[in-house]
Order: sequence, then structure tokens, then C-alpha cells
Amino acid sequence: MNIWTGLKQALTGNEGGGPVTASGPVTAGEPGEDRSALRPLPDDAMIVIPLRNTVLFPGVMSPLSIGREASVAAAQEAASAEKPICFLLQHDAEKADITPDDVHWVGTAGQVVRYVTAPDGAHHLIIQGQSRVRVLEFLEGWPFPVARVATIESPETMTPEIEARFLQLKEQSAEAIKLLPNVNEELAGVVQQISSPGLLADMVANLMDVKAEEKQTVLESFDARQRLDMVLEMLGKRVEVLRLSREIGDKTRKEFDERQREHVLREQMRQIQKELGDDDGSAAELEELKKCVEEAGMPEDTLKHARKELKRLERMSDSGGEYSMLRTYLEWLTELPWKAQPQQAIDLSEARRILDEDHYGLEKIKRRILEYLAVRKLNPEGKSPILCFVGPPGVGKTSLGQSIARATGREFQRVALGGTHDEAEIRGHRRTYIGALPGNIIQAVRRAGSRSGVMMLDEIDKLGAGGFHGDPSSALLEVLDPEQNAKFRDNYLGVDYDLSQMMFIATANVLDTIPGPLRDRMEVIQLPGYTEEEKLEISRRYLLKRQLDANGLEAGQVSLSDEAIRELIAGYTREAGVRNLEREIGSVFRSVAMRIAEGSVESVALDAGDLHAILGARKFENELAQRTSMPGVATGLAWTPVGGDILFVEVSKVPGSGKLILTGQLGDVMKESAQAAMTLAKGYFDEALEKVDLHVHVPAGATPKDGPSAGVAMFLALVSLLSGKPVRADVAMTGEISLRGLVLPIGGVKEKVLAALRAGIKTVMLPKRNEKDLEDVPEEARNQLEFVFLENVEDAVACAMGVDPGGLSMQEDRLAA
Ligand SMILES: Nc1ncnc2c1ncn2[C@@H]1O[C@H](COP(=O)(O)OP(=O)(O)OP(=O)(O)O)[C@@H](O)[C@H]1O
Ligand SMILES: [Mg+2]
Repeated sequence: MNIWTGLKQALTGNEGGGPVTASGPVTAGEPGEDRSALRPLPDDAMIVIPLRNTVLFPGVMSPLSIGREASVAAAQEAASAEKPICFLLQHDAEKADITPDDVHWVGTAGQVVRYVTAPDGAHHLIIQGQSRVRVLEFLEGWPFPVARVATIESPETMTPEIEARFLQLKEQSAEAIKLLPNVNEELAGVVQQISSPGLLADMVANLMDVKAEEKQTVLESFDARQRLDMVLEMLGKRVEVLRLSREIGDKTRKEFDERQREHVLREQMRQIQKELGDDDGSAAELEELKKCVEEAGMPEDTLKHARKELKRLERMSDSGGEYSMLRTYLEWLTELPWKAQPQQAIDLSEARRILDEDHYGLEKIKRRILEYLAVRKLNPEGKSPILCFVGPPGVGKTSLGQSIARATGREFQRVALGGTHDEAEIRGHRRTYIGALPGNIIQAVRRAGSRSGVMMLDEIDKLGAGGFHGDPSSALLEVLDPEQNAKFRDNYLGVDYDLSQMMFIATANVLDTIPGPLRDRMEVIQLPGYTEEEKLEISRRYLLKRQLDANGLEAGQVSLSDEAIRELIAGYTREAGVRNLEREIGSVFRSVAMRIAEGSVESVALDAGDLHAILGARKFENELAQRTSMPGVATGLAWTPVGGDILFVEVSKVPGSGKLILTGQLGDVMKESAQAAMTLAKGYFDEALEKVDLHVHVPAGATPKDGPSAGVAMFLALVSLLSGKPVRADVAMTGEISLRGLVLPIGGVKEKVLAALRAGIKTVMLPKRNEKDLEDVPEEARNQLEFVFLENVEDAVACAMGVDPGGLSMQEDRLAA
């Protein structure tokens, strides 16, 4: 049975009461009394040793260390007289002086098998439990506790119920033993050999790592079946816990093994790479990255963050996706320009020279740009406003930005904002997204390689409305706000980036669609577009040369006469800017280049008449003459985001009942304006209109038209139709009308006047109250036109139709139409 001792130690680690210095005997004995003089014990009495923390079960052998004087005396007496001892569990393990109330009255009678006094004076016993006993009463008169006891007999009858539990307990204990770490292999065999159910229950209870109090309850259940149930339940719980902890252990072990394995493989791979001579792999790469991190000149916080991420990268396997993601991130961090560049002092006269060199005309705008630069020169740290160039396509907004960069010696970068719907496009995606990247602001900074360059926010008017993914304009606000942009935070970078040295310039075709708060941050500079003369100059000075280079031609090989350029401007383009003009010049030069390359000619001089052969028929015929030759047509002037344009208002009539039909994709305001014109016209031709329907049409239907400014043109077209007198072909007009016939002011005068000039108009009729706006129109354009200012519609009739409105009369034959 010796094995049990070892097992118990192995499994429970419970060494029994443990050596405690006893403070005295439980019951009064005469101190120093000679043991030989002890009174003999009554037959049914036993020496008692109280146990602090352990329960001895019958059939179990157990080590026990004792220290209390009474216990030592008891053990010595029992050992020498070969008497059994009654072992009782204390209620309170801490208690040293024991009275009868301090112990359980059910315990185990057992024997001291071995008594050893260690060299340090400690007393160690090996005891063996024999039977359950119940204390009847405590007796006095010995130097140790003595009690009268009765042995509890529990006869074993193997009923089916007990047998079932017995087998189950065997099974469960086998499982428990398997789950235990470092288990003595013999234990399983021993357990299987036990044939008594009660004994098995005691054994298992003894082995279990549960509180002494719980073991005591097992000891106190005398019925075998009840005891088996109790132990089964306790063991069930333990097995569950053991199983869990085994699982956890397995998992960690497995992970550890895998990591270990990976590490070994990686090491091997490195060795192989070394052998093969291509060890330039990850180690060198990391070293390089480390160097970059240290040298990038990041601010303290960012550097700390980067170092931390680098550490993380070093610990990672370089084959995983996370590795490459983190490496890309660190590359982004290191490649961003962090250091402040020394600012080149702004030389205003040099800037002036560069602006003039790059752009013809635009005097007012250049002046405004120079003012802006002057302010920056005087106060480089100050918060200068953000310039915003607004105007039709191809008028030089982007190229002015480039000029400013050149004039100030800064890097130029362009950020296209058109169609940006998502805040993340500006501010980037968080790194947790697959394929995340910084937003386009930070991307542009990296491309520029400088944080004090010129950044052009192109097409800020085409910024998409904020939706589900956040408002891009609010992110832009942060970029443009001098109070905030020193700490711009891109989601991907996750660290602050200082944009305050950046010079921002925005461009837009229209002002209206720029979100209000953004517009407030910017200083708007309008570029209205060019007159024919200006375009001619721009062509001669810039476009021709550029296209020569682009097509590999020498200056002497081809020449375009002014007349030819004018023909290109008037017959092949209709635009406020010069982009299409440049394209047409390009087409012409291409065909010339081909002829020269073929060797058919040495050089070509082109005049207006030669263009037809190269470019085909004119794209924009002079429509005016054709279209306005009949009564019922008037030429209006419109403002569009791509500059001004002319539009024709056509009216015809059909038999009907005085209705007004409107076509040509007119907006609501324009429709109302047509109604007003109709009402006004009725004043002149009243009775005759009841039998006809009037149809007002504004062709070029693809472009939606709206606004009240076509009022005058509509009125004149109606009057012209009804009176049978055509409107002068070289007159264009703009103006809102009131029901009383007053002409009210409108917007976009500059663009409209330029459009009129482009279309070959000689006279422009404007509302009187717009007279002051003519100041904005380039003088050269003003000089080529005649202006008539209208106070009421009768002025318009007099000027455009050459008749006195009072003399208007309905022509009978016109009604018959
Ligand atoms: N005043 C000018 N002098 C010389 N070249 C000019 C002038 N205005 C425009 N250009 C040229 O016309 C071309 C088109 O100009 P740019 O690209 O700047 O147009 P934009 O106003 O930005 O148009 P968009 O609104 O379509 O972007 C450029 O090559 C530019 O150099
Ligand atoms: Mg542009």
C-alpha cells in the first residue's frame, strides 16, 4: 500500500497539519509528568490527534508532520504503546488550543506506521487510516486529548445501484488520471484493482484536490451509495476543470510549437539565402528602412511612433500580408518630406517677369497675384488667404498656378478634386482597410517632395456632396484652415502632418457650387475669358511655339498668318479660353509635319484659305446672318460655366386659342420670363392673339437654360413675329423684364459681352443699371462694340427693329400663318 503515500503527495501536495509549534496540551496534564506514570486508557478510549488541514480516510496511508506539544506526546505514547490514534479534523485550521468543540466528532482511527524525528527536531509520521469512528465523549486526565469512541461499521452489499456508480467512478477516475499532468502510471492500475465501492470512494476523495471540509463530508457519509454519489459529483467537476485547462495548455503549446517551427524554417531559409548569395532580402531591407526612419527628420512624436512600428515589423514574419502592409506604411512615413525647407526669398520683380513670360494679358490678375506674393514676402509666417481662380475652361487657371510656383521657387502639385465624394479620398483610409492608402493631399505632398510647395486644388467646384462616407468638403476645410492645418491628420498616416507652409490655390469653373464655408476661406479671382485679339496674341506668343515643339517642327518650316489664326478662332472654335484653339493649331501643324516628313515640301506658309483643306469645313458658321433674317428671332446672351454664349430665341405661331407653348429645355424661371414677355406683347397686339397659339423655342436644347435674363430677347422675338419686322442681325441683348415693361439688371455682363464679340455682334443691348459693369470688360472688347442701355422694352424695340413702338401694328398677313 506504500504507493498511496507517494500518490497522495504527487496529486494533492497536502502534507497534513504541517509543523506548528504547539502552545500547549488540549487538556490539562501535569507538566513534566512521566509518561510511564500515565493512567491507562479505558478500553473504548483512544488518543486523539487533531488535524489542521487534512482528512485521513480508512485504508489510506498518509504522511503527517506534527508540532504541537500535545500531539507530539500523543504520537509518542501511541507509537511506543502501539495504540491506535483517533484523527479528527479541526473546524478552524488556525486554532492551536483545541477544545472538544473545535473538532469534528467523526474521524478515522489509524496507526502510526513510522515515526521519524528530523535533525531539526521536527516530528514526521506515516500514518495509516483503518476505520471510521465517532467520538462519544472526551475524557480528561492525560497530557493529550483522549476520547471514548465507537467504530462505525458499514457493511458492503453490492446492489446494482451501487455497482453502477462504482463502475462509473472507476471510469471517471481513469479519465481524471489521464488528464492529470505528471501522473504516476501505476495509479490507474491501482484504482482499477479496488473491489470495494466504499473504499474506492474514500480513495478518490482522498486523492482529490478539494477542501478538507468537503472531504470531511465524504468521511461523514456512511452509506456507500450516498458516498459514491457525492464523490462522483465532485470528480465530475474536477474532470471538467482539468479538461479545460488541458485544452488551454494544448492550445498554447501548439501555438508555441508553430512559432518555433516557423522560426526554425526562417532561420534555415536565411542560411540558404546566404549560401546562395542572395541575402540582400529582408534583413538588409529592414536596416535600410531603419536608416530612413532615423534620417527622415520626423517630429519627435512621429519618430517615436515610427520606431515602435519598426520594432513590430522586425518581429514579424516577412512573408505575411501584415508585414508588407506595415512596411508600405513605414515607407510612406519615411518618404514624406518632414524637414522644413529653407524658404527662397520672394523676388517680386522676378515674379513679375515670370508671370509675364508665361501669360499674356491678365493684367488685373497678375497684379493681384503679385500683391499676394508681396504680403507673403513681408510676412512669411502670416496666414495669407487662399487664392481661388474662377473661370471657364482653358483660360489659364491651372497654368497660372504653375507660374506662381515657378515665380516663388516652389514645387507644384495638383490635386484633382472633381468627383470626390468620399472624405477618405482627401483624408485617406484607416490602415485597417485592405489596400488602404493616404488621401490625395498627403499623396500630393509626397509627389512634390516638399511641404512648402504650391498645391493646386483643381475643380474645387466639382467636389461631390457629402454622403454616407463623410463630407469631403469638411475635410478640405481642415486642410485650408490656417488654424488647423499645422496638425493635419490623415487617417492612413495616423500622425499629424504640418501643412501650414503649403501655398494652396484652388480653381473652379463656377462659384455657386463651391460649398459656402470653403468659399469663405478663399479669395476669389475671376478669369472671364479672352477676346479674339487676346487669343491672337496668345497664339502668336505661346501656342504656336508650343505646338511647333510638340510636332517636331522648326520655326522656319511653317508659318500661320494672323488671318489664318483669326479664322481658326472664329470658324473652328467657340470658347472663352484657348484650349481648343491650341488643339486646332496642333491639328494644322500635324498635317504640315506629315507633308514635310514625306519630303513633298520644305516649308509651308498657311493663310486663312488653306485651313479648309486641312481641317474641313468651318465648325462654327456665322449663324447670325442666317438665323435672324426672318421675323420672330432675337439673339440673346447667356452666361454658362464655360463662359458666355449667344442663344437664339425663336417664336412662331399656329392657329389656336391664345396659348403659349415653350420648348428647348427651359427652366422654370425662364418659362415665367416667357409668360411675362407674352403678357407684355399682348399689350400691343391684344385682340389679334386670341386665335393663335404662340410657340417659343430656344434651340441648342441639350444645354438646359434658365434665368430671367432672356426676357428682353423673348419679348423682341414675339414683337418681331407679330409685327413682321426682323430684328437686326448684329444686335444681341440681355435683360430681365417686368410686367410694366421695365428692363431689370442681370449678371455675367463681362462673359456675355465677350461672347457677343466672339459671335460677331456689333451692338449689345444691356439694362441701364448694368452700365457700371462694363468696367470689367476688357477695353479692347469694349472698343469693338456699341452698347445700348435699356430702361424699358420700348428702348429695345426702337434700337433692334428701328421702329417706334407706338407705331407697331399687327400685320394681317402674319396672322394667317
Ligand atoms: N493668358 C495666357 N497666356 C498664355 N497661355 C495661356 C493663357 N491662358 C491660357 N493659356 C494656355 O491655355 C492652356 C489651358 O490653360 P489651363 O490648363 O490653365 O486652363 P484652365 O483654366 O485650368 O482650364 P480648366 O478649367 O479646364 O482646368 C494652357 O496651355 C495655358 O498655358
Ligand atoms: Mg485647369
